[in-house]
Amino acid sequence: MSQRIKVAAALKSGPVGTEVDVRGWVRTKRESKQGFAFVELNDGSSLANLQVVVDQSVPGYAEFIKLLTTGSSVRVVGELKTSPAKGQAVEVHARELTVYGTADAEKYPLQKKGHSFEFLREIAHLRPRTNTFGAIARVRNELCSAIHNFFQSRGFVYVHTPIITTSDCEGAGQMFQVTTLDLARLAQKQVEIDYSQDFFGKRASLTVSGQLEGETFACAVGDCYTFGPTFRAENSNTTRHLSEFWMVEPEMPFYDLNDNMQLAEDFIRSILKQVLEKCPEDMKFFAERIDKTVLETAENIVSHDFLRLSYTEAIDILEKSGQTFEFPVKWGLDLQSEHERYLTEQKFKQPVILYDYPRAIKSFYMRCNDDGKTVRAMDVLVPRAGEIIGGSQREERLDVLVARLQECGLNPDDYWWYIDLRRYGTVPHAGFGLGLERVLLLLTGMANIRDVIPYPRTPKHAEF
Ligand code: 4AD
Ligand code: MG
Repeated sequence: MSQRIKVAAALKSGPVGTEVDVRGWVRTKRESKQGFAFVELNDGSSLANLQVVVDQSVPGYAEFIKLLTTGSSVRVVGELKTSPAKGQAVEVHARELTVYGTADAEKYPLQKKGHSFEFLREIAHLRPRTNTFGAIARVRNELCSAIHNFFQSRGFVYVHTPIITTSDCEGAGQMFQVTTLDLARLAQKQVEIDYSQDFFGKRASLTVSGQLEGETFACAVGDCYTFGPTFRAENSNTTRHLSEFWMVEPEMPFYDLNDNMQLAEDFIRSILKQVLEKCPEDMKFFAERIDKTVLETAENIVSHDFLRLSYTEAIDILEKSGQTFEFPVKWGLDLQSEHERYLTEQKFKQPVILYDYPRAIKSFYMRCNDDGKTVRAMDVLVPRAGEIIGGSQREERLDVLVARLQECGLNPDDYWWYIDLRRYGTVPHAGFGLGLERVLLLLTGMANIRDVIPYPRTPKHAEF
């Protein structure tokens, strides 16, 4: 009896000399004039294909050779043998073939290689079958596993914060509304919308961050993290912004900003290390085909301490850099991607954590410093991807928080439950958010964030 084996396992420790059963999709087929063919089979378990040798003694040979076009799905039963060819250890000599599904060579969009990433975005349902997107899927998976490993090994509790929410975490109003009201009918009637008639009896949205709910758990079960999809209705058409992205948000009671920065640093190092260790084949592919610096960049991050600078020091460095930037550099203004890249790619060539940002450009929940001008915020900036983490020590003082909400033009009544945490057993605490896709930009060297998430959503684009 032959046993089904995945391509990755066959290629690795292959039970040479035994009969195996492999199943997958044909990548290429080469016919020889001597009456046999080589078929490259891929089942997604690895970047590398398994070579299948089919000779004319296989029942139905002539018919099979016509059907085994790129993209067709097949089952092969045959002997796994040491391969005489260079570049592969083993190959399968087919004894029996079954074609599950054909793929018309005239129509199959991936029949030819070398499509642009722009074109592949239009066929997001098929692009995982390419080498690049298969590799991204496996690296993304490993990264998620590493994220859970890191927190689980430190005793953090994984909390599921809501996706539908009635509060705006960032207070920035960039939320997608969730409603079951018949908008077309209401528009016709031209009446004011009565949200008490809406599904939740009030205005609801998709979450921009699970932080506020995360804080409620941190103040109950201790160190915790939430990890899920996040939605932002900001009209940013850049290579680093998505309207739907995944964010990991740990929240820790009794942490100050320094503890928070240290955790962020340990966290990034640990997850990159696991991906480098577990995905060497895919990472080598990115280095060879996408960006030759990716391995060096990731290894550097894993083995060096991050630089820490206050926002004020960073502004000073940027002002004295002698660079001409498109956007102005001035104390009080937010840093743009070009400034972040100058610091991490040119000046320091390593990750930089900036802290103590001007309070006017940061969210209401960040702890106010005594200088009256800055808050205990921190951003982790890395080469290529720019800001991958945004976090802060939280404002734990009731009166200061309420005043800050008002200063930010928000109504404290809307945040009554969040304020309650400061009313009952308040503690110093801190946390941060890491953008999963930003880490993938860093790891893979892909230039556009739309290409590191399976189905990108951006302004004017939600195809599938
Ligand atoms: O800096 P942000 O907005 O911080 C928060 O949402 C906090 N509530 C996090 C916390 O303290 N718990 O977002 C955090 C990170 C950014 O550093 C970035 O990596 C990513 O989320 N991010 C995006 N990634 C892709 N597309 C977007 N539109 C993103 N906006 C933020
Ligand atoms: Mg931020």
